[in-house]
Amino acid sequence: MKYLVCNFKNKLVKDDIVKYNNRLSEISAKKVKLVVVPSLPFLAFFDKNGYSIGSQDISSFMDKTITGEVTGEQLKSLGVEYVIVGHSERREYRHEINIDFINKINNAIYNDIKVIYCIGETLKEKEDGNTYMVLEKQISEVLNNVEIKNIIIAYEPVWAVGTGVRPKNKELKENIEFIKDIIEEKYDTKLEVLYGGSINASNIGELNTIKCIDGFLVGGASTDINSLENMLLEIEK
Ligand code: PGA
Repeated sequence: MKYLVCNFKNKLVKDDIVKYNNRLSEISAKKVKLVVVPSLPFLAFFDKNGYSIGSQDISSFMDKTITGEVTGEQLKSLGVEYVIVGHSERREYRHEINIDFINKINNAIYNDIKVIYCIGETLKEKEDGNTYMVLEKQISEVLNNVEIKNIIIAYEPVWAVGTGVRPKNKELKENIEFIKDIIEEKYDTKLEVLYGGSINASNIGELNTIKCIDGFLVGGASTDINSLENMLLEIEK
């Protein structure tokens, strides 16, 4: 079953969430594993009826008392099943680095929360021909230091996130296959790989024809319930 992970980022306020939720309760995802990832304050608004909820963050600390942090145990107590780690926006603006990802993944796994670990090259890295090197580094520097359990990779080229541009199908297929091969080679296991970056209801059908993609991580387009409904229809066709 393919994933459709809806990353609301820091969008939508309480009234929007209530409206979204009302419509969500009328939508059923039959052939898709739907995961709603709202901002942290709204996690408890979602009833998880026919879909799962994910968190956009988890504390990188385990046993410290820290104002403003949200622990794996707290997320678990809300029924959170997934957490996004390593998103390019957090790499860029929060300056999160490998040690943060390693600690967050460990905390998630300890609490039986599945990790969606985001990787992807910048435009400069792509133009310099370094995509494979960057992807391999982002994989090994983190996954070498965690238990390879309950981890899903999200391939999100940084230049495709929120920009309206996305890789050509051939490039996307090659990069996803590279990620899958390298993981199998290094860890002797298969991990599912999602694609994310400028997905919407008009292009998800075409992306869905790329067989090696195990699902989609959608930002902007997922904050509109009509577009979510259309994306589901496209995948379930
Ligand atoms: P986008 O974001 O769909 O708005 O490009 C994807 C993501 O950041 O997960």
